Amino acid sequence: MIAANRQFRLAARPVGLPKRTDWNLTEEPVPEPGDGEFLVKILYISLDPAMRGWMNEGRSYIAPVGIGEVMRAGAVGRVVASKHAGFAVGDHVYGVFGVQEYALSKGGGVTKVDPRLAPLPVYLGTLGMPGMTAYFGLLEIGKPKSGQTVVVSGAAGAVGMVVGQIARILGCRVVGIAGGAEKCRYLVAELGFDAAVDYKAQDVRKALREHCPNGIDVFFDNVGGDILDAALANLARHARIVLCGAVSQYNNTTAIKGPSNYLSLLINRASMTGMVVFDYADRYSEGFKAMAGWLAAGTLRSREDIVTGFGEFPETLLKLFAGENLGKLVLQVADA
Ligand SMILES: NC(=O)c1ccc[n+]([C@@H]2O[C@H](COP(=O)([O-])OP(=O)(O)OC[C@H]3O[C@@H](n4cnc5c(N)ncnc54)[C@H](OP(=O)(O)O)[C@@H]3O)[C@@H](O)[C@H]2O)c1
Repeated sequence: MIAANRQFRLAARPVGLPKRTDWNLTEEPVPEPGDGEFLVKILYISLDPAMRGWMNEGRSYIAPVGIGEVMRAGAVGRVVASKHAGFAVGDHVYGVFGVQEYALSKGGGVTKVDPRLAPLPVYLGTLGMPGMTAYFGLLEIGKPKSGQTVVVSGAAGAVGMVVGQIARILGCRVVGIAGGAEKCRYLVAELGFDAAVDYKAQDVRKALREHCPNGIDVFFDNVGGDILDAALANLARHARIVLCGAVSQYNNTTAIKGPSNYLSLLINRASMTGMVVFDYADRYSEGFKAMAGWLAAGTLRSREDIVTGFGEFPETLLKLFAGENLGKLVLQVADA
């Protein structure tokens, strides 16, 4: 007997890191699907740094979450009731279902996922939005060539570890930047990166100079701030910077810190280009096919960091900003 649908709703626009009081945990009856609708029991919720941006007022690539609204989030779940011709009870689906335990859907933006092909959380990471970000950002904007040097920041996270592995598969020299010795060990020993720089313990600019003797051809930036400046100081001629994110700046209470070494772009005839994964939505099947092929062949490894418990959402989200996740951070809210 289904009792209630718990939901995390945005209560206030955070200043700095989100606090518990920025959320309202509410409960409402589980809705019944009407004609053309189906009900999804949510199993895994994707936690993404972008969620912090969606909590802010102001113009962005997507509208902010309104005060009082269920927090936006990608999720994977199972159809438990259906009056929709295209979705049957038992189907596993991905959609932007929000931070809640059940979601009603008419099918817009919902895709079926196959748990026999990959474990369900992988559809929130390597075979989902972060994986597509890595694939299209690296290939379409970074344009790496075999033998070139690719550096990625946030390298032990969902996007970063896929970027580095694809670059390795393409025959590039790969250097990751991540926080902490264990993450750096993992990148080199388990994922085959050529080198890793621990930005919490090392001088990043100096370490990049040592690890990239011919300069950086592609810098895939997830972090921004001082790390972006350190990479700018080490560019090769005609380098491409993929501006994917700036997680070091998302909780600033003062203005975002922009790069001061930007004249390096001029000196090196380099470019820095922003990318938004949704622009490649009509090509996701191409990215999915390539990634699934590499996963099946064992050349690409996926890693998820799974935390259990719906009520843990506010604290779990903060792990992204404390660097406490290794791989894709996922909240498991029900048994699969
Ligand atoms: N443009 C797009 O379409 C698009 C799509 C998806 C994601 N993104 C962006 O891609 C980036 C990575 O996202 P993700 O989902 O893969 O997250 P993630 O890397 O799995 O998690 C965030 C990581 O950021 C690092 N970090 C946090 N605060 C930091 C700081 N002050 N300085 C340096 N590193 C810090 C932490 O790793 P350490 O332990 O190494 O510090 C943390 O584990 C984010 O910037 C995100 O917004 C962009």
